[in-house]
Amino acid sequence: MKLPTRVKLVDVGPRDGLQNEKQPVSAEIKIGLVHRLQDAGLKEIEVTSFVSPKWVPQMADNAEVMHGIQRKPGVLYSVLTPNMKGFEAAIAAPREEWPDEIVVFGAASEAFSQKNINCSIAESIERFAPVVAAAREKGIHVRGAMSCTVGCPYEGEIAPAKVAYLAQLMKGIGVQRVDVADTIGVGTPRKVQAAMEATLAHFDVDAISGHFHDTYGQALVNTLAALEMGVWNFQSSSAGLGGCPYAKGATGNVATEDVVYMLHGMGIETGIDLDKLIDAGVYISEALGREPNSRASKAIRTKRAG
Ligand code: HMG
Ligand code: MG
Repeated sequence: MKLPTRVKLVDVGPRDGLQNEKQPVSAEIKIGLVHRLQDAGLKEIEVTSFVSPKWVPQMADNAEVMHGIQRKPGVLYSVLTPNMKGFEAAIAAPREEWPDEIVVFGAASEAFSQKNINCSIAESIERFAPVVAAAREKGIHVRGAMSCTVGCPYEGEIAPAKVAYLAQLMKGIGVQRVDVADTIGVGTPRKVQAAMEATLAHFDVDAISGHFHDTYGQALVNTLAALEMGVWNFQSSSAGLGGCPYAKGATGNVATEDVVYMLHGMGIETGIDLDKLIDAGVYISEALGREPNSRASKAIRTKRAG
C-alpha cells in the first residue's frame, strides 16, 4: 500500500506525560507546554483529564489548565472524561473553555479495565454511553482510547478478537474515532498490525490512531507498520514523557520529536517545526529536572551546540 503523504500527530504529553509524574508540576508549566506545542505546529493536543483526583492527583488542576490556555485557531484540544461526573466538570466552564473533543477510555483487557477505571469492560461501556451521547448532543467530538490492544500488564498477550470486541462496543455507543494503544509498549510490528486489522473491522482507517508507548523501543517501527496499513493519525509525547499510573514499569509514549524526524525523513508532511518542538521538549524536561527522552532531540541539540 502507498504510504500516507501527510500525518497528523496528537501530542498527549500534557496529559499522558504529566499524569505519571511523581513531582508536582504547576498549572502554569502545563499551560506553557501546551502553548509551545501549538506554536510548534501541533494541530491536536491532549491537554488534561477530568478523572478522580484521588486516583490521579497530577490532573487535579484540569479546570485551571483549560482556563489558562490561549487557544490557537485550527487546533483541537481534547481531554479525558471517564464518566458523567468528569464530562460535567469538563463543561462546567464557559463554552469557550470546553474541550473540542472528549476521550472515553476503555481496555481490551478485563483486568486492566478494573485496575484503571474500577469496572469491567461491559460496565465501562454503560458508563461511557451517556457521556458520548451528551458530548455529541453538544457538538463535542468523541474519541475512544483502547488500552492494552497488544499486551496487558496483568493478563499478558491480548488476542485481536478482544480488540475487535471493544472496537465494536465503542462504535455501538457512537464513539467517532479510536486509538489503538499499546499501553505497555510490548508490541512488535505484526502484532500491532493485527490489533489495527481487528479495529478496521469496525472503524474506517481515517478514524483510527496509533498510541504507542516505547517501553521496549518498538514504538517507531510500530508506527511504520501502522503507516503501511494507511493509518495517518498518531499520538506521541514531546520529550517522550508519559506512562500510565496503572501500568507499572511502562515508560513514556514515543517521543513526538522522534516521530517527526522519521516522518520528515520519509518525505511525509506533519506541519510541525521540529526545532520548535525540540525546544518545547527541553522546556518541559527542564521543569522536570531531566533530559528529554528523545534520541532525535539529543542528536539535533548536540549538532546545534556545534
Ligand atoms: P470509582 O472510585 O469507581 O468512582 O472510580 P465512583 O463513581 O465510585 O466515585 C468515587 C469517588 O470519586 C467519589 O468521590 C466521586 O465523586 C469521585 P468521594 O465521594 O469518594 O469523595 N469521582 C470523580 N472525581 C472527579 N472526576 C471524576 C470522578 N468520578 C468519580 N470524573 C474513576 C472510577 C473512573 C473515576 C476512577 O477509576 C478514575 O479516576 N480513574 C482514572 C484512571 C486514569 O486516569 N488513568 C490514566 C488515564 S488512561 C491511560 O493513561 C491510557 C491511555 O493513555 C491509553 C494507553 O496508553 O493505553 C489513554
Ligand atoms: Mg497512554
